Amino acid sequence: MIDVAVAGATGKLGSMICSLIREQKDMRLVGAVVSAEGGRSGTELYPGIKAVGPDGIAELCRHCTVYVDVTKASAAEVNVPIAIKAGANVVLGTTGISPEFVERLGPSLKENGRSAVVTPNFSIGVNVFWDTCRSLAKALPEYEVEIIEMHHDRKKDAPSGTALRAAQIISAETGVDRFVCGREGIVGARGREIGIHSIRAGDIVGEHTVVFAGHNERIELTHKAHSREMFAEGCIAAIRWVASRNDGAVHGMDEVAGA
Ligand SMILES: NC(=O)c1ccc[n+]([C@@H]2O[C@H](COP(=O)([O-])OP(=O)(O)OC[C@H]3O[C@@H](n4cnc5c(N)ncnc54)[C@H](OP(=O)(O)O)[C@@H]3O)[C@@H](O)[C@H]2O)c1
Repeated sequence: MIDVAVAGATGKLGSMICSLIREQKDMRLVGAVVSAEGGRSGTELYPGIKAVGPDGIAELCRHCTVYVDVTKASAAEVNVPIAIKAGANVVLGTTGISPEFVERLGPSLKENGRSAVVTPNFSIGVNVFWDTCRSLAKALPEYEVEIIEMHHDRKKDAPSGTALRAAQIISAETGVDRFVCGREGIVGARGREIGIHSIRAGDIVGEHTVVFAGHNERIELTHKAHSREMFAEGCIAAIRWVASRNDGAVHGMDEVAGA
């Protein structure tokens, strides 16, 4: 049985993940973490599951197989190391996490014999989308790249982790490492840069378009998420995958998907 604790359990994504965990035959929801300020700490979110604040993570993770974090970057960067130290494997889906933080996870995972899946996007399709970005950038290194991402009006961070990851993948192929988030005023001619534009409106689950523009032509690659459920299902696959890995390493969703 895979015992799972979910941080962000009252959130849009976290509550969906908790419900899905409770439907799995090989998983058990054993803990729910919320913020200290949100007013839900101490309340029973599911039968037998009382929410705890971040100060309850260490105790919870001494008794769980996998700790899932879908909160916010500033919270995750404090809480994930505590979870690993307490002995949990980690699925980190929170966005806005710095690459330096992910790098720092390695030694701690090794020391504790645990593993992590870190991904700003649990969707299988987005992982193929990133791969396609890599191929297009390799084939068209001189084309100018712009990324447009759209999300619902309550999303807290911009640009999206998925858009940033696409930019990093393209940058690794083309060497263009200046990212410009939005433009305003007399900005002059476009430089060697990747533009990233964030739209926040209505209840859009998540859309990403990467434009590769040359002379007289362009390619546009688009991924559209139809429902948040797809993220929750990807998270369940990541929990199952990481639960018995114990290899002291950080993994991506591409490995979970077997891509
Ligand atoms: N990887 C993916 O595929 C994917 C897909 C969608 C979203 N995301 C990311 O997942 C994260 C959550 O998104 P959401 O839309 O579910 O957000 P949300 O609805 O705002 O929920 C945030 C959750 O985090 C909790 N929280 C906030 N601060 C905390 C802290 N210091 N310690 C513990 N818990 C804390 C909140 O608890 P309270 O209720 O107590 O405030 C709430 O349960 C974001 O980073 C989002 O970008 C990832």
